[in-house]
Amino acid sequence: AVERTLTILKPDCVRKNLIGEVTRRIQEAGFRIVAMKMTRLTKDTAGGFYAVHKERPFFDELVEFMSSGPCVPMILEKENAIKDFREFIGATDPSEAEEGTIRADFADSVGENIIHGSDSVENGKKEAAYFFSEAEVVANKA
Ligand code: CMP
Repeated sequence: AVERTLTILKPDCVRKNLIGEVTRRIQEAGFRIVAMKMTRLTKDTAGGFYAVHKERPFFDELVEFMSSGPCVPMILEKENAIKDFREFIGATDPSEAEEGTIRADFADSVGENIIHGSDSVENGKKEAAYFFSEAEVVANKA
């Protein structure tokens, strides 16, 4: 089925001047961008986005990092977008990510790992709504 996933080009991706390269690869892999913006999360909005991880030992570090600079959230559309995108970006820990994936090529650590991808259709919808209003989502067949 055609699905949508929410991705974030994280602050490390922006700092390393990789917005263009990562976006090029996303499009090359067949994901259609149907919403996109640059924004900066506060500690509050970053904490809200990652609320499911609130009790994890890395939560404070994660919130600190995600609010450390601008990021680029996008909604992507494709057949089997959720699973295909997670394969495309590679494992959360870049040392375990497959060769040629975004995280294997660009990420420094499990915390600073360049990019986010939704883990289910349901979470993708919630995450998309966290960043975008309905009016900001467009049709894009290209
Ligand atoms: P993401 O897929 O965006 O969603 C949860 C994030 O938590 C994950 O990417 C990692 O960046 C981060 N994370 C997971 N495990 C750790 C860890 N052990 N230390 C720091 N950050 C982590």
